[in-house]
Amino acid sequence: TEKVTLLAIESSCDETSASVISDGQILSNIVATQVVHEKHGGVVPELASRAHQQNIILVVQEALQKAQIDKSELSAIGFTRGPGLLGSLLVGTSFSKAMALALDIPLIEVNHMQAHVLAHFIDEPKPAFPFLCLTVSGGHTQIVKVKSHLGMEVIGETTDDAVGEAFDKAAKMLGLGYPGGPMVDKLAKTGNPLAFPFPISDMPDLKFSFSGVKTALLYFIQKQTPEFIQENLADICASYQYTLIRTLLLKLKKASKLHGIKEISVAGGVSANSGLRLALAEMAKKERWNIYIPDFQYCTDNAGMIAIAAHYKFLAGEFTSQSVSPMPRFAI
Ligand code: KG4
Ligand code: ZN
Repeated sequence: TEKVTLLAIESSCDETSASVISDGQILSNIVATQVVHEKHGGVVPELASRAHQQNIILVVQEALQKAQIDKSELSAIGFTRGPGLLGSLLVGTSFSKAMALALDIPLIEVNHMQAHVLAHFIDEPKPAFPFLCLTVSGGHTQIVKVKSHLGMEVIGETTDDAVGEAFDKAAKMLGLGYPGGPMVDKLAKTGNPLAFPFPISDMPDLKFSFSGVKTALLYFIQKQTPEFIQENLADICASYQYTLIRTLLLKLKKASKLHGIKEISVAGGVSANSGLRLALAEMAKKERWNIYIPDFQYCTDNAGMIAIAAHYKFLAGEFTSQSVSPMPRFAI
């Protein structure tokens, strides 16, 4: 039988990415990270769409070249339809439509959050259904119950900021640059997590909230001298990060008990956090969970996860019409 070879495009935020997948095997995953946002301390949507426009063809060419696939061999094109920034999504969507039209092959729309979850099916070991996925990124904080490759349900979500945002905003307040998550992570490694207590939010059910802890940090900084902050940077980062991790694991444990599921996975950019990985491994031992974290390159935004999602949608015969437009808000 003929191979199913797909090209996938990701352009929802500040990463322009293309990937080639053949019969479920990732052959290439090229990511161009936009650096123009660093000096602005956050993603500037207008600049993001321009950078996507500049990068997209080069990234696609590199992905095809690395995979040693000619575009005539492609069976379909997968792309991120949302959620994300409209101007960014428009670049990937328009490009994918034009290329599918030119090659006379079908289009497959992919939900970016569903793709973060499906990143677990790129490499071994793969979680067994049903499993829970804590999806933690710069834009989202969700607990997803995954019943099948394409059957997912959000059972818990943030009511305000995403946890990645809580990392990034703290880093900004502490003058650590953007994106702040990796910097806070690095400093936290040498700090005392119990040095400064920050409030752990306990919203009802499986709801998250991160605006309280962020405000608590702001007040804490305002009360101290700049010298004190500089001298205690590692302890502040460790304490703040500890609070975020505790909040995440508190809800994850609650979700596991509530749904009777011990297959537990984490996805999204924040799953790169070393403190979260350690705390999760500890909790897994205590609670007898099987835990799954994708390879680092498939945790942060990338087209490999869009490719694996498109692969399952291709097998299910879920194609998208050429009149499709992006959906900045797009529920799983
Ligand atoms: O999934 P992702 O690449 O993009 C979105 O879809 O948002 O996640 C980016 C987020 C940023 O908030 C970044 O600060 C955070 O992931 N992040 C981290 C770490 N690496 C990336 N947060 C904490 N610790 C890290 N090591
Ligand atoms: Zn993402």
